[in-house]
Amino acid sequence: PENVGILAVEAAFPSLYVDQTELEQYDGVSAGKYVIGLGQSKMGLCNDREDINSLCLTVVQNLIERFNLKYSDIGRLDVGTETIIDKSKSVKSVLMQLFEPHGVTDLEGLDTTNACYGGTAALFNAVAWIESSEWNNRYAIVVAADIAVYAEGSARPTGGAGAVAMLIGPNAPLIIDRNVRATYMKHVYDFYKPDLTSEYPTVDGKLSIECYLHALDTCYQLYRKRAAKKTADTLVDLNYFDYILFHTPFCKLIQKSVGRLALNDFLQTSPELVSKLYPGLDNFKNLDLTKTYFDKDVEKAFLTVSKGAYQKKTEPSLLMANQIGNMYTASLYGGLVSLLVNCNIEQIAGSKVGLFSYGSGLASTMFSITVTKDCNDNSPLYKLMSNIKDVKTRLEQRQKISPEKFVTILETRNQNCHKAPFAPLSSIKDLFLGTYYLNEIDGMFRRYYRRH
Ligand code: ACO
Repeated sequence: PENVGILAVEAAFPSLYVDQTELEQYDGVSAGKYVIGLGQSKMGLCNDREDINSLCLTVVQNLIERFNLKYSDIGRLDVGTETIIDKSKSVKSVLMQLFEPHGVTDLEGLDTTNACYGGTAALFNAVAWIESSEWNNRYAIVVAADIAVYAEGSARPTGGAGAVAMLIGPNAPLIIDRNVRATYMKHVYDFYKPDLTSEYPTVDGKLSIECYLHALDTCYQLYRKRAAKKTADTLVDLNYFDYILFHTPFCKLIQKSVGRLALNDFLQTSPELVSKLYPGLDNFKNLDLTKTYFDKDVEKAFLTVSKGAYQKKTEPSLLMANQIGNMYTASLYGGLVSLLVNCNIEQIAGSKVGLFSYGSGLASTMFSITVTKDCNDNSPLYKLMSNIKDVKTRLEQRQKISPEKFVTILETRNQNCHKAPFAPLSSIKDLFLGTYYLNEIDGMFRRYYRRH
């Protein structure tokens, strides 16, 4: 099969949010720390009616309905998540409830876990299946979903929650490029979840940022090499991409990440060209990248160099990240949804999109998508983009809750996350129509869901 990639995409996120300015006041931090310092406006959160299963049920069901798919069209379903509510039973197995009534039970694929990277591993598994001898002409669905909550403290404003589902198949409008993927993996304790009784991670914030930037440097260097080989003598640098999307823990890090790519480009520029292309920056020429993660002079210089590129190639992808927060595995794919929502079809058609996926611990890959040129009203790209047009409206329809309420919800979640039997108390009236919600957990920890 040729041109394997993304044919359709759907996003689901909670209907509740907390305002980051109000959270700054409540937390007693200096004004602007979360909104300007981290680049975050709103943070989505789930009350006790939503868990990882319900988020995934919602996004898969909505994808199928909105795209008029038949259940029997699907031959594989992969889930990437780090939100674990059961040490054995997968989210995928829970999603079988959607397929069984239609007689569809031959559905390969299960859950994949490593921090925010699981969605990307799931995507690669689905693509590999379609390219394999086991493929049976059906589509795959990939779901990336998480609920990101942190204990009280500096990481708390970088939470969020959401799910993205993608329909994968041949002849797609968003084609996953072959033979260019660049991966970097390493054993490190920057962010992990060793306490199985809590929803909260153990996190070394500063180390996680250092690891993220180091992984970005390493993947970008390898991607450039692999892509240059494929495109013969074309120089691969920032200009090669029309759009660049990142796993987005908080938006400010992404502005710095684009600066980081410009710094990498600068360091590979031949000495004769440096003063011409980068006037005034000659004194940075002999930098050791590994010593620059928190170097404010370098950061500032390359934020300036890359400002135009950031605004054009990356900022349109930060809508969901800014309005919802970190959705962990769904973050990068929420970036893709945001880009498709914020640009018109002529801007997207024919473009090259770079993507950087990062999951602490760590696993990271840079890969790319080539968008088909065809953008008329009957094109697959048109259909894909039309189906997610309402994301902005849905974000606006959410309900704001106070920081006090937010903290109460988190405390309640943390107390009850492994309780059985359990009857959720939150009202269902605020949920978006079509949302699955937790109705009950019985004495044997079995969870039951209904649809709003
Ligand atoms: N106005 C404007 N900016 C401000 C203000 C203010 N009043 N106050 C602080 N800032 C800036 C700071 O200067 C800093 O920006 P800079 O780094 O560009 O200098 C930024 O706001 C954050 O302030 P810090 O003091 O660095 O924040 P803190 O250390 O309290 O927490 C952190 C930040 C480490 C990111 C924390 O939120 C965290 O641990 N988050 C979870 C880990 C994470 O997301 N890691 C990323 C990769 S791993 C993953 O995806 C989970």
